[in-house]
Amino acid sequence: MNSEFLKLCRKRKSVRRFADRPVEREKIELCLEAARRAPSADNMQPWRFVVFDDPTRKRQMADAVFRGAYSMSRRFAAAPVIVALLIKENLLVNKVAGVVQGTQWQLVDSGIAGEHFVLAAAELGLGTCWIGWYDGRALIKHLGLRGKGYRPVALIALGYPAAGVSPNQRPRKPLSDIASWNEPPR
Ligand SMILES: Cc1cc2nc3c(=O)[nH]c(=O)nc-3n(C[C@H](O)[C@H](O)[C@H](O)COP(=O)(O)O)c2cc1C
Repeated sequence: MNSEFLKLCRKRKSVRRFADRPVEREKIELCLEAARRAPSADNMQPWRFVVFDDPTRKRQMADAVFRGAYSMSRRFAAAPVIVALLIKENLLVNKVAGVVQGTQWQLVDSGIAGEHFVLAAAELGLGTCWIGWYDGRALIKHLGLRGKGYRPVALIALGYPAAGVSPNQRPRKPLSDIASWNEPPR
């Protein structure tokens, strides 16, 4: 089984060490455009991307969110770019579905958009790592967004991979474990 897209999916892996080289704005913009094209529940497009590529602003943000229990993520402060992925809440569709179905579609939507961003970066030869282990409340406070209907989703570290970063993706479960045909999952 092969396709250009599948090759890209196989090539993408989480990168946690980055070259000391800035990322061109136009490349980041391309990734943002890929994210902007993502589908979303009722086309609500709840995602918001805050790009930290200024070293001082990035360090201040990293200082705020990688503290205490989250200091183990501190190494991501060395990434040339950190993108904060937020959602804008108080959307009627999201609220209704949240109550009726119990599903927070805005989180699904932002995950899809974030992965569009990540795959576009991989195509450009850039490395990324989703970061879930950070202080989301501190991020909202740092951005001055408390009480304004925003919720943190994740951070994404971005940059050119450092020399020597392994090209191998971590192993994946076999298809038979994750997909079934006309039957419930095993
Ligand atoms: C939502 C999400 C949160 C993640 N959070 C972290 C994190 O906080 N720290 C980290 O080192 N990796 C994090 N990762 C990366 C995963 O560990 C990684 O995707 C997984 O081990 C598979 O490896 P691969 O991305 O290289 O294929 C996260 C990935 C996702 C999708």
